[in-house]
Amino acid sequence: MIILLGYMGSGKSAVGKSLAVKLNQPFLDFDEYIEQKEGISVTTIFQEKGEIYFRKIEHLYLKELLDENRNMVLSLGGGTPCYSNNIALLLKATPHVFYLNVGIGTLVERLLKEKSHRPVIAHLTEENLPEFIGKHLFERNSFYQQAHHHVNANKKTIEELVNEIGALI
Ligand code: S3P
Repeated sequence: MIILLGYMGSGKSAVGKSLAVKLNQPFLDFDEYIEQKEGISVTTIFQEKGEIYFRKIEHLYLKELLDENRNMVLSLGGGTPCYSNNIALLLKATPHVFYLNVGIGTLVERLLKEKSHRPVIAHLTEENLPEFIGKHLFERNSFYQQAHHHVNANKKTIEELVNEIGALI
């Protein structure tokens, strides 16, 4: 199993999909997996059941998936490694955990356009999004940093990132 983690907007899903094609392995987006299992969108889960419920099922489904130990490329949600000691489970499950590291400037630029379907930041404005992301990244950094491999994903194409990760496997 190859696992991609990183902040929202770091390109986990896009890179994961391409990497899976290159390696001829199935691809799984963990948010989509949760949505399928629950039968509703992540946004609706946050709205109707709250973030604590989301973090609880995120942990349970992650354990379930890691126990199955299927060969695949798995892209996590931005918060997945940062709760319930999920990072320890991930590191134990495979030697191939990759952190896609993208700078705050690029994240802000991307997330301003793509925040509506992300309940953690959907309510933020152009004025307060940069400060929020700065603090949030700082909090999450200690989890992301534990990944086996750190990939500098600034100013690189998906193809370049896929080749870089492919060479490390
Ligand atoms: C979250 C990131 C989302 C999704 C949920 C919470 C987070 O995934 O799991 O909205 O806490 O960072 P993406 O990183 O794929 O947007």
